[in-house]
Amino acid sequence: MDTTLVSLPLDRVEADAVVVLLFEDEAAPAELKGVSAWLDELKASGEFTGKTAELAVQHLAPGFQAKRLVVVGGGKRDKYDAAGLRRAVGTSVRALKQKGVKKLAWFLSGGDAEAAVEGAILGNFEPDRYKTSSDAKSLESFVLIAPDSAKAGVERGKILGDAQNFTRDLVNEPANVMTPTLLADRARAMAAEVGLECEILDEPRMRQLGMGSLLGVSQGSAEPPALIIIRYKPAQAPTTKDHLGLVGKGVTFDTGGVSIKPADGMEKMKYDMAGGAAMLGAMRAIAQLKPSIPVTALVPAVENMVGSKAQRPGDIVTSLSGKTIEVLNTDAEGRLILVDAITYAQRLGCTHLVDAATLTGAIVVALGNVNIGVFTNNDALLARVLAAAKAEGEKSWHMPLDDDYKELLKSAFADLANIGGRWGGAISAAYFLKEFAGDTPWVHLDIAGTAWLDEAKPFLAKGPSGVAVRTFTRLALDW
Ligand code: BES
Ligand code: ZN
Ligand code: ZN
Repeated sequence: MDTTLVSLPLDRVEADAVVVLLFEDEAAPAELKGVSAWLDELKASGEFTGKTAELAVQHLAPGFQAKRLVVVGGGKRDKYDAAGLRRAVGTSVRALKQKGVKKLAWFLSGGDAEAAVEGAILGNFEPDRYKTSSDAKSLESFVLIAPDSAKAGVERGKILGDAQNFTRDLVNEPANVMTPTLLADRARAMAAEVGLECEILDEPRMRQLGMGSLLGVSQGSAEPPALIIIRYKPAQAPTTKDHLGLVGKGVTFDTGGVSIKPADGMEKMKYDMAGGAAMLGAMRAIAQLKPSIPVTALVPAVENMVGSKAQRPGDIVTSLSGKTIEVLNTDAEGRLILVDAITYAQRLGCTHLVDAATLTGAIVVALGNVNIGVFTNNDALLARVLAAAKAEGEKSWHMPLDDDYKELLKSAFADLANIGGRWGGAISAAYFLKEFAGDTPWVHLDIAGTAWLDEAKPFLAKGPSGVAVRTFTRLALDW
C-alpha cells in the first residue's frame, strides 16, 4: 500500500472513498464544505450517533472527484486521543477494503498524522499468506488529507506501521517455517536492508562461551539455536555513555518440553517468539528514525521440544553468568534463554536493558489481554519506559518485584530454581530475570497477554498485534 499526503479541499480529492470522523457530541467540522449539511442531517435523524466504530456511507454528487463519503464515529470528543484516531482509521480501512475500496482518503481535521497513517497500515494487514483462495481484500493506496506540516508525521507513521507489520508477519509464520535459523535469516536480511550490523552466534560458539542455560532448552530440538545480535550506532558520537540493550524472547515453538503443555491451544505457541520479533521490528524503525544513542538488540532463538535429547525436570545447568539453575519445569524455558542473553548484553557493554517476552500464563490471569505487565529494578528506567508506552498508546501496568519474592526461587541443589510455585507466577518469573540483571538498570515487559489477539478487532486482524514495537522505538528516540 502506498501512502501519500495531499492538501486539497474535499471536493478535489480523488479516491474510491473519503472518510471523515464525526463525534457524538460535536457538529461536523466547518471545513467540510458541501457535505456538512448532510452530516448534520444524518446526526439529527438519529441514524448515526457518532459512537466509536460506527460507520455510514453515502455516494457523492457529481461535483466531487471521490465516489463515496464515509462517516466514522469518533465517540466522545474529550475521550478522543491518538489511540482513538489510530483505531478509527484502522476500523474504516478494515471495513471499506472488504467493500472493494482500493484507494481510501482520510480527512484529518486536527489530529496526529502519525497515528492516522499507523492505523491505516495496521488495519490493512491480513494474515492470509497461506490461503490459496482468500476473500480478504486490501487497499492499494491511502491518502491523508492534511496540511503540508503533517509530512514528518506521515513519514514516521509509515516507518512505525511497517515495522509493526514486519513483526506481525514474523510472529504469524507457523513454527515449521519460522525456525530459529529462519528467524536469524530474516533478521540478517532486514539488517542489510536498513543498514544495520547483524551477527548470529551459532551453537558451537554458544557452547564455547558457556551459555548452558540457553543450550539446555534447545538441546531437545533438531533445529539448531541462534543468538541474533543487531547493532545500531548513531552517526554522531553520543553525548552520554548510555547504551540501550533490547532483549527479546525468541522461542519459535513452545511445546513445554518434557513438562509438556496440554494439546488444547498448543498451536498458539508459535507466538512465543513475539518478544524477539518486537525487538527486530523496533530495530528496523530505529535504523530509519536514527536516535542519538547506540542500541543493540539480542534475540535468543530456540525451539522447546520433547524427545530423547530433551532436557529433563531436575537437570542442573550452568548459565553464562556462572550461576547454576535447577530446571524444575522445562516449560519455564523463556527465562532460561533470556538470562544468558542478558549476561551477554552486559558483556557487550549495554548499560540499560529492556526485555520483552511472552513469559507467563500468569500475567494473562493478572492483566488479561489489555495491559503489558512491567517489572523493574530501576525506577528511572521504568519511568522512561512507561512514558514511551503511554505516548504510543500501548497500555502498561507496573507490577511489584519486592525482595520477599526471592525465596520462591530457592533450590535445594543449585543456586536457583527456574520456577517459583503456583502463586504470583509472573512475578517469580520476573524475579528470576532480575537475579541476572544484577545492578544494570533493567525493565521487563511480559507481553503474553497482549502480543496475540484471539479474535479480530474492528481495527486489527486476528493474530499477532505487534505490541511493544512502538514503545521500544520511542524509548530509544526520546532517550
Ligand atoms: N510461553 C509460555 C507462557 C505463555 C503462556 C505465553 C500462555 C502465552 C500464553 C511460557 O514458556 C510458559 O510455559 N510458562 C509457564 C511457566 C510455569 C511452568 C512456571 C506458564 O506460564 O505456565
Ligand atoms: Zn514454556
Ligand atoms: Zn514459552
